[in-house]
Amino acid sequence: MAEPVRLLVICLGNICRSPMAEGALRARIAEAGLSDWLQVDSAGTGGWHAGEPPDHRAVVTAESNGVDISMLRARQLQAADFDDFDWLLCADRSNLRDVRARVPAAAHGRIALLREWAGAHKGAEIADPYTGGQRHFDAVWAQVDTAAQAIVARFARQRGGV
Ligand code: 4NP
Repeated sequence: MAEPVRLLVICLGNICRSPMAEGALRARIAEAGLSDWLQVDSAGTGGWHAGEPPDHRAVVTAESNGVDISMLRARQLQAADFDDFDWLLCADRSNLRDVRARVPAAAHGRIALLREWAGAHKGAEIADPYTGGQRHFDAVWAQVDTAAQAIVARFARQRGGV
């Protein structure tokens, strides 16, 4: 079997967007039978919510799409993540700037915007829903699940050797 590919999704607080993306990716990866190969975690550039479960609205939104993210716990991005992960995938351009500013010397992981990396247009972001309402959380879910499906389809093609 090929070496596992490790993806880290990053947002600001690690309680809304990145845990939703982690949940969508885990679900789509499991559905495709690629869990041994594709590994996913998430983190926040900020540490204010470290140790907390995802925002209740994120949990409810994921749940209404059949995905349980209630067991996830927020953590802050750390220097070791740049070596432990192959891709550090950011929710928005502000996260991208913050992550790039923290790259240690000789880091292994590459840094990108999650949606752009998944095939959406250049610069595509996931808007912060924290101060928004349910429709903002629904929009985040639609975006992260679309990205998750595209990422899994790409890796499934690679695995199939097509
Ligand atoms: P997230 O949303 O980055 O998608 O997890 C936020 C969560 C918390 C805060 C901001 C954004 N905050 O300021 O505490």
